[in-house]
Parts: sequence; structure tokens; C-alpha cells
Amino acid sequence: MTINVTMVGCTGWVGRALVQAMAGAPDLTLAAAVARSAAGQDAGTAAGGAALGVTIAASLEEALRTPSDVVVDYTKPNVVKGHVLQAVAAGRSVVVGTSGMTGEDYAEIDRAARDAGVGVVAAGNFSITATLMQRFALMAARYVADVEVIDYASAQKPDVPSGTGRELAERLSEVRLDPTSRAVDTLTGPRETRGAAVGRVQVHSVRMPGYVLSCEALFGAADERLSIRHDAGSSPTPYVAGTLLAIRKAGEVPGLRRGLDSLMEG
Ligand SMILES: NC(=O)c1ccc[n+]([C@@H]2O[C@H](COP(=O)([O-])OP(=O)(O)OC[C@H]3O[C@@H](n4cnc5c(N)ncnc54)[C@H](OP(=O)(O)O)[C@@H]3O)[C@@H](O)[C@H]2O)c1
Repeated sequence: MTINVTMVGCTGWVGRALVQAMAGAPDLTLAAAVARSAAGQDAGTAAGGAALGVTIAASLEEALRTPSDVVVDYTKPNVVKGHVLQAVAAGRSVVVGTSGMTGEDYAEIDRAARDAGVGVVAAGNFSITATLMQRFALMAARYVADVEVIDYASAQKPDVPSGTGRELAERLSEVRLDPTSRAVDTLTGPRETRGAAVGRVQVHSVRMPGYVLSCEALFGAADERLSIRHDAGSSPTPYVAGTLLAIRKAGEVPGLRRGLDSLMEG
């Protein structure tokens, strides 16, 4: 038996790679696909591969008329929450790759998913090595009190911080020790230069040409520093294996699970 997938954002940078990967995965079937500008086209050819016999729908509402088990969203920060709630209300499990949602958004999604008895897996970064970076940073935060997050991305990325940076800061906030650096509200000068507080961690977002997606947890202790950093390359390949793992596991547990870490062993 295969898992039937609705791919929302099937013509995007990540979506195209996922459509092609699903076409080669015997246990996964692309059942429906969504992208506004390519509506009416075949999802396989639109992704640069062979025809798959799946016609792209112009909206998720339209695509949900085709039965599926899991909805995958790699679209835009301004539409992702609506998509997830719509899919959950239709009884589908969901995998969320799109960035931009807050902790409150996720709490609402968790409640909706529990009520509907479906699973949602969301990760700011579905790359295995980025997940390891997060895990190592969480280990370090138990021993080194001062930590800040720097998130680097391309000049045109529409949201700050990145999903990777936001998730890292929220997770660090749960385990970090009290900082020894001076509290931001006691400083003179423009306080924005100290970054934004995401939970209990200051986050600094750099947006420039020449960057794809990098995220760094910067630790400082007396007379020494530790930097734990992940740098993505220029292809969507790092996110494919983790997203496919999430598709396979999304339906197993009702409610929200955040981070690829939540699906990995020990
Ligand atoms: N979690 C992770 O590991 C990870 C990794 C990489 C990227 N991301 C995040 O994933 C998201 C997508 O990234 P990307 O680089 O693949 O984006 P992208 O290349 O801009 O692709 C976006 C896709 O969504 C579709 N779309 C946009 N608005 C839509 C709407 N209102 N309704 C339906 N479809 C819509 C687009 O097609 P149309 O415009 O034709 O509708 C396109 O197919 C971003 O938030 C990015 O930060 C996450």
C-alpha cells in the first residue's frame, strides 16, 4: 500500500525536487498537486521530469477534492497557516516545510490536529545535518550560558528570521541557562542592533546576495567561544530525504510534532 500525497507548491524550488523524488519512491504516490501559475499542467513535466498523469490544481481547496493521506506544504509564509488548517479540517495529515509561522500559530495547529485526530510534522529545516546542528547546539546550551543565533539568507527571502533560526531559538529558549551579558533593556543606543528576542534568545538575521541559507548558534564563555553552524548549498537536495521521512511518519501520531529531530532515533 502506498501513501498518497498532495503536494502544495509543486513547482517551487523544493516542490519540484519533491515531486521528482516521490516519482522514484515505490511507497509514495503523488495524488494531487497545487501551484497557481502552472494550474492545468501535468505535475511531473512541470517539475522537469516525466509526465505523472496528475493535473496541477490552482488551489488547495480544489486539490482536496482528490483523496490523499498527507498534504505537504512548501509555499509562502503568508498562506501556509491557512493551508495547514484547511488540510487538517479535511482529515489529512500534514508536513510543513514553509517558514514564517509563530509559536502561537503552531499551538493553534496542534489543537486543531488533535481535535481532528491527524498528525502534523513541521520543521524549520528538514536537512539531516541542519537537524544535527540544532541537536549539538541544544547540548551546548546546557553548559554554556550565553548564546545568540545568527541566520543568513539570500537578499530576497521574504521572512525573518528563517524557519531554521526561529526553531533553533525557540528550542534553545526551553533549555538555556540565564545569560551573563547585559540585559537588552538596560542598554543605551539603538537596541535593535542587539537583534530580536525569539523566546529567550537574541536572533540576528542577515539578508544579502551570496548567501543561500546558513544558521549559526554562537556561544561565548570566559575567554573562549564556540560556533555551531550549518551552511546549505544551492540545491534543494538536503531537504528531500527529511521531508520524505516526515511524509512516511506524519500519520503515526495525532497532533503537532516540531523538528525533524522528533522523528529521529535517540
Ligand atoms: N523546512 C525546510 O527544510 C525548508 C527548506 C527550504 C525552503 N523552506 C521554505 O519553504 C518555503 C518554500 O520555499 P521554495 O524556495 O520552494 O519557494 P518557491 O520556489 O517560491 O516556491 C513556492 C511554491 O508555492 C507556490 N505558491 C505560492 N503561493 C501560493 C498560494 N497562495 N497557493 C498555492 N501555491 C502557492 C508557488 O507556485 P505559484 O506561485 O505558481 O502559486 C510555488 O510552486 C519557504 O517558506 C522556504 O523558506 C523550508
